[in-house]
Amino acid sequence: MQILFKNIKELLQVREDKIDFISGKEMCVLPTLKNAFLLVKNGIIKDFGTMEDCPNIDAEIVDATGRMILPSWCDSHTHLVYAGNREGEFVDRIKGLTYNEIAENGGGILNSAKKLQATSEDELYKQSKKRLEEIILLGTGAVEIKSGYGLTKESELKMLRVIQHLKENYPIEIKATFLGAHALPKEFENSKPEYLELLINEVLPIIEKENLTDFIDVFCEKGYFSVNDTKLILEAGKKYGLQGKIHVNQFNAIGGIQEGIKHNVLSVDHLEEIRDIDIEALKNTQTMPVALPSCSYFLGIPYTPARKMIDHGLPLALATDYNPGSTPSGNMNFVVATACIKMKMTPEEAINAATINGAYAMNLQDKVGSITRGKLANLILTKEINSYNYIPYSFGNHSVDKVYLKGKEAKN
Ligand code: NIG
Ligand code: FE
Repeated sequence: MQILFKNIKELLQVREDKIDFISGKEMCVLPTLKNAFLLVKNGIIKDFGTMEDCPNIDAEIVDATGRMILPSWCDSHTHLVYAGNREGEFVDRIKGLTYNEIAENGGGILNSAKKLQATSEDELYKQSKKRLEEIILLGTGAVEIKSGYGLTKESELKMLRVIQHLKENYPIEIKATFLGAHALPKEFENSKPEYLELLINEVLPIIEKENLTDFIDVFCEKGYFSVNDTKLILEAGKKYGLQGKIHVNQFNAIGGIQEGIKHNVLSVDHLEEIRDIDIEALKNTQTMPVALPSCSYFLGIPYTPARKMIDHGLPLALATDYNPGSTPSGNMNFVVATACIKMKMTPEEAINAATINGAYAMNLQDKVGSITRGKLANLILTKEINSYNYIPYSFGNHSVDKVYLKGKEAKN
C-alpha cells in the first residue's frame, strides 16, 4: 500500500539521518522542504523531496496544495489512564485553595486513587480509550502513559494492564511507565519504607514477569518522595532493566535532578523550580529536560524557564502531563502555543521540542519525531495555513486537518 502526498506547501522537520535529539543551540532551526512530495509505503516513510523529483507511480494520491505536513506530536509525559475527574477541586482552587492544601484535605492524587481502586479494569479501559482517541485526532502519534493512581499492588497492575491493552489495540506508539511512587497511600502514612518495599519487592517482579512497563518514575517532591526514596526506586528499577523518567522540581528544588542524573534517567520532567546548579548539572548529559506548560497554566504555578535553559544549550522536550488533577488536557497544539506565548520559545524551538525531543524522551527517536526515511508515517496534515508560525499563533484552535498513523488516516 502506497500513499503519495503531492504539492505539500511545506514539509516540516525534515531530517536526512536519524538523530537522537536536538540540543539547545540547534533548536532554533527547523529544517523544511517547500513544494514537496512525501511517499509512504506499508506505513513507513519511503521517500520525500521537492515536486520536480516527484515519482510517477501507482499510489493513492493526496493533494496537499496549500497545506503542510509535519511528524505527529510526541507526548512523552501523560497520566491519561485514570478514573473519573476532579472538577470539584478545580472549583476549590478558583475559590482560593492551593493544590497542596487540596491534597492535604484528602483531594489530589489520593482522591484519584480512591476512584481508580473502585473502578473495574474494563471500565477504566473504556474511560481511558476515549482520551487516547481524542489525542490521536489532535495530532499525537506517540505517547507515554504512567501508572500511579493505583497505589496498591492490584490497582497499579490494573492500570498497567489497561495501558498494555491500549498498546495492543491502537496504532499509536505507546510507552508505559510505572509510577507506584506517586503519593503515599493513607495506610502507609507512618510507614513509608514498607510502601517502598511493597513497590520494589512485590509489584516490580510481577511487572517484569508480565512485561508491563518500559520505564520507572517517582514524584520527587517535599511531602511526597525524598531524594533518598528516589534513589531507592531508581536503583530497584535498574535491577529490572528499567530506565528512569522522573517528576522533579515541580514545587521545590530538593536535589532530585542531580540524583536522577547519577542514575542516567532518560528525562527529568516539570522543572518549574530550577536553580542555576540544576541547569549546570544537566549540561552534557543524556537526560532530556521536559517542560509541561499546560500544568503551569492550569495550576497557576511558574512556567519552566525554557528560554534560560535553551540559551544555556540544554535541549528541551514539551509534553502535556494529561492527568485529572494538574492538567486535564492532552492537547499538544495548546502545549506548543503556550510554550511560545508564555515561555518565549520560538515556533521552531517548540516544534523541535514537541516532536524529535519528545520522541527521545520515550526512547522512540528511531521510529518517530521527524520526517526521515524508514521512520513510521505518523503524520499531521494541516489545514491551509500561510506559515508554520500560524500553528502556535492560533492558540486554542488547532491547525490539524488529518492525522495518519502508520500511513493510515485516523478517523473518529
Ligand atoms: O505530574 N506532580 C505529580 N503528578 C501529577 C499530578 C497528579 C494529580 O494531581 O493527580 C503531575 O502534575
Ligand atoms: Fe506528571
